[in-house]
Parts: sequence; structure tokens; C-alpha cells
Amino acid sequence: MQVYRLFEPAESSVVVTQPQRHVLIVDDDDLVRETLHFVLEDGGYQVHAASSGAEALRLLEREPIDIVLSDIFMPGMNGFDLLRRIREIAPDTPVILITGYGNIEMAREALKQGASDFITKPYNIHEIPIMIERNLTRHSLLANQTRQYEDAVQRSYRATLDALLAALDTRDTETEGHSERVAAYTMAMAHRLKLSPEELNDIERGALLHDIGKIGVPDSILYKPGPLTPEEWEIMKQHPVIGYRMCMKVDALRSAAPIVLHHHERWDGEGYPYGLAGEAIPLGARIFAIADTLDAMTSDRPYRKALSFAEAREEIIRCAGKQFDPDMVKLFLEIPEEELRMIRELSLANRQQRAA
Ligand SMILES: [Fe+2]
Ligand SMILES: [Fe+2]
Repeated sequence: MQVYRLFEPAESSVVVTQPQRHVLIVDDDDLVRETLHFVLEDGGYQVHAASSGAEALRLLEREPIDIVLSDIFMPGMNGFDLLRRIREIAPDTPVILITGYGNIEMAREALKQGASDFITKPYNIHEIPIMIERNLTRHSLLANQTRQYEDAVQRSYRATLDALLAALDTRDTETEGHSERVAAYTMAMAHRLKLSPEELNDIERGALLHDIGKIGVPDSILYKPGPLTPEEWEIMKQHPVIGYRMCMKVDALRSAAPIVLHHHERWDGEGYPYGLAGEAIPLGARIFAIADTLDAMTSDRPYRKALSFAEAREEIIRCAGKQFDPDMVKLFLEIPEEELRMIRELSLANRQQRAA
């Protein structure tokens, strides 16, 4: 029977005000659990108690636990095993481990394995709320810092993207705002599929930057008024490869690079640069191909007026199974014409706003 000095006199007690925090106590010793439960509830916490690691994991799934306080020596799953499992299922939840009898080695091990703090027995039970508050505060400060850092990284990615798009704009041979519109049409389709936020992000970046490789195509070819010679055409067909290499050099664009590489592939294998066919073409590139053609057809060109959305849809249906993935054409047809028109107008307005 282990004896803890649980009832040392307190100099002051901490009273916690709103919002109420949920604390999970894990200990196989009934007396310890009940005493901690009592003191913490008295301090204003919502307390959950588990007598084993397995029970603690069940509670963690059900309850909005803010912090875990766990003993190390428990039959079955010990405190370290529990800590490992919590790191997997709730990596953001701080865990305080209770180590035995001033065992410094064990305390060090607890921190190494991801515990946010440790308490050695015997402890003053009235210090536990202070320790909980200290850990919750430190944890929320850390979470804030991480968020700020992630925001800064996102902003710098966005700046890289904008710089690349601005560079492409100076060499854009297509109509103004093509990249933004194509990206918006692509995303209208992609959002109708069950894709992860990361996949959606990659597809959007790939669509925005699809022609970035044109930066590397010589002016004499890019701006040639007449038809290209077969040799010039071969150089022109390298722009997806050039774009792919550029994107592979930027961490945030690496996973979007395959869409850039394959944006001119066709479902029937007649596209370039590799003549991939069917599902060998990345999904994002198959969606993009429809959006690209849609925008090209519904924009004025020097040699012809823009087609209506209805006419463009007919043409896209006609090309299903040849130029385009038939399933993606079906997906495209789910988008009401009104939505397509709105996307077009919105991206025009966004662009004008940015230019102002
Ligand atoms: Fe292209
Ligand atoms: Fe394009």
C-alpha cells in the first residue's frame, strides 16, 4: 500500500473561473483518484476520472478533455503507454505524468516522450491546480505561436504564388485573368469530390500555375503571330516540363507540380508531354483540362468571338472520352450555368480589385 501525503496544508487555493476546463485523472488507486477529483472540482474544473489507461482512452474519445493527469505505475497500460496513445489520438492535449518518489530518470523520460510536465510523489495536492493552469497557459501560448507561424508561412507561400503569377502575366498569351478563372472553375468541380483540404489546395495551386513554364519559352515562339514550325512546336510543348521543374523547386508547390506537368494530357493518350491516358493522368489534371477548355471557349480571341456557356458545354460533352475523362465531364455538368457565369464575373472583379 503506497502512502501519499495528500493533505498537506495549503497556503492558498486556486479558484478557476470560466471557461470551465475538463481535466482527466488517470490512477488505479481509488483514494488518489477521489482526492484529486474532490480538490479539482472544488477548484472549478470539470473532472473526469479513469482507473485504467483503457478507460482513459475511452473518455478521451467522448469528452472534450483539456488536460490529462496520469499516474505511471498502473496495471495493464502504464502511464508511458497511455502517453504514447494520447500523442497519437489527441496530439494537442497536454499530459502531466505523476512519477514515483523523486525518480528523476523517469521524469526525464516522461518529458522526452512528450509529457508536458511531471509531478513527483509525495506532492502537495493543492499545487496541482497551479500546475494544471501553468501547463494549460503554456500550451495555449504555444498553440498561438504555432498558428502565427503557420499564418506567416501561408502568407509567404501566397506571396511566392503571386510573384510567379505576376511573372506569368507579363508573358501570358491567353486572355487576361485566365489562370484565376481556370482555377475557380477547377475548384468548382473539385469541391464536388470527396477530397482532403491538402488535395484541394494542390489542385488549386496547380491550376493557377499551369502555364508557368511559358516563362521559359523563347519570345520568338511564344509571341509568333503565325503557325509554329514542327521544331518550334516541340519547344512550345516543353512548357509543362519547364513549369514542373520550377514548381518542384518550391516546397509549397511540389505536390501541385504533377498537375502542371500533365495539364495538356488527354484522356485518349493523344496529349503531351508524355501521352498519358485515362486514369494514369492525375485527377487534378483531368479536372483542370475541362476548366481550361471551358475558359478558352468562353473568352474572346482575336480570331473569333467567345462562345456561350451552353455552346461550350455541348462541345465539352462531345469531347468526353476523347479529350476529357467522361466521369469528370459528368461532374462538370452538375455545375449550373449560373454558377459558371458567377465564377467568371467574380474572378474578373477580384482581378480588377487587385490591380487597383
Ligand atoms: Fe499550357
Ligand atoms: Fe491555359
